[in-house]
Amino acid sequence: MVDTDTEIAQRFLAMGGLALEAGALALRHFEDRDSLGVTMKGAQDFLTVADGAVEALLRKRVAEAFPGDAVLGEEGGGEAAERLWIVDPIDGTANFARGEPHWCVSIGFMRAGVPEIGAIYMPAADELYLARRGGGATRNGRAIRASDTADMRRATIEVGWSSRRPASDYIDVVRGVMEAGANAKRAASGALGIAYVADGRTDAYCEAHINSWDVAAGLVIAREAGAWTNDFFAGDGLAKGNPVLVAAPGVADAMRRLAGV
Ligand code: IPD
Repeated sequence: MVDTDTEIAQRFLAMGGLALEAGALALRHFEDRDSLGVTMKGAQDFLTVADGAVEALLRKRVAEAFPGDAVLGEEGGGEAAERLWIVDPIDGTANFARGEPHWCVSIGFMRAGVPEIGAIYMPAADELYLARRGGGATRNGRAIRASDTADMRRATIEVGWSSRRPASDYIDVVRGVMEAGANAKRAASGALGIAYVADGRTDAYCEAHINSWDVAAGLVIAREAGAWTNDFFAGDGLAKGNPVLVAAPGVADAMRRLAGV
């Protein structure tokens, strides 16, 4: 019988390689634009052949290495389990479908409901974010930290948007962020948006509703990099999503007021 620490260490060792392999497959699709097979799941909700293919690869590799583990994925669904991998094969699918390189593979692992490990890989920049709870966060092996920004007039804030919430809610938050003197942006990958807060490239990421596969990895990476995060998995967050806010500690209070989190 393997103890919990060893169990988590084994998955941590596997996860980086898995993210790189999945990212390489996604990149091959990205570079072969004629085979993308873009369809729409809803307004501004893109799907490509690559989403299904990359998620199938992730599910296969988890089943081979850890046959007792469950997977919850954006395309194939899934549910809570003692050992759960939460995967988004391509986060930033709208960017991916339009040929813009800001997208990533996101893989999180939870044990008994606790987010333990996260990996986010952006193939176009060859950047791999990795973190294990209690073990710090890295980009390509180097430690990362959230920014020390304490003044909203120096801050850059990413406000995420999806058609799952009214446009007026989004506009209100953007207005508040700009009126506080910050630079408001949107780059359309929630997972990378959170990784960038962890990396000090932006100062906060918020979105009124986002799904667990978009944030499961990023939340571990951000906490390990010293960022403030809301309790995203409260209530039914795993199955139905929740609001998310990830912020550098110095702007967390201001952003909590603006995002209402
Ligand atoms: C979407 C992206 C987007 C966020 C949406 C997500 P997808 O995920 O992360 O940035 O604003 O809420 O649904 O569809 O690209 O995997």
